[in-house]
Amino acid sequence: MKSIVILISGRGSNMVSLINAAADGSLPVRVAAVLSNRPDAKGLQIAAAAGVVTRVVDHTLYSNRESFDAAMAGAIDAFSPDLVVLAGFMRILSDGFVTRYAGRLINIHPSLLPSFPGLHTHQRALDEGVRIHGCTVHFVTPALDHGPIVVQAAVPVIDGDDATTLAARVLAQEHRIYPLAVRWFAEGRLRLVDGRVVLDVPQERAFCLIAPQASGGCQ
Ligand code: GRF
Repeated sequence: MKSIVILISGRGSNMVSLINAAADGSLPVRVAAVLSNRPDAKGLQIAAAAGVVTRVVDHTLYSNRESFDAAMAGAIDAFSPDLVVLAGFMRILSDGFVTRYAGRLINIHPSLLPSFPGLHTHQRALDEGVRIHGCTVHFVTPALDHGPIVVQAAVPVIDGDDATTLAARVLAQEHRIYPLAVRWFAEGRLRLVDGRVVLDVPQERAFCLIAPQASGGCQ
């Protein structure tokens, strides 16, 4: 069975969706460890309570990005994971780190990339007046919130939404598509070839369109 290491910085709800899916058998991976750059990340306690090994590599103890990334890489490699899963990991990674894990480093971002990379995606989507918003799982490249797209889920922006209600609607879809993408990787159906995603699943499963009354794809 393939193993994954999950990197978090905060509450870890996407991490929970992966741990739960691995526990109930719908995601055929072993969660080898959860690593955080923040000792106070809430998700660390949740992971430990679920019986998952946790480690902290505190970025404040390192004088520059490269030395932190080297320490984090060392902590990751101690578990020899097949895939490194960024789940709300709030650190910009050096090119060296990204290159080291090329093709086995994925991220989830709360927008339909390439729209709205960076922070405050839900408020920015509201400010732009978009009708459709969503989330994206992608392989990580040196460019922030950029990289070959694996799967996306789109949700409507509804009259009266604020950043909180919109974030909740998107987050529910994050919790669907991240375990899905990791499962595809674990089953050998997802790989990166010459910088492009090769996905051996029916094409319609790589997007979710969540209408107010209906949903499609992403099974
Ligand atoms: C999610 O919205 C994810 O897309 C983004 O950071 C947030 C992390 O939330 N990268 P959580 O810690 O998984 O609850």
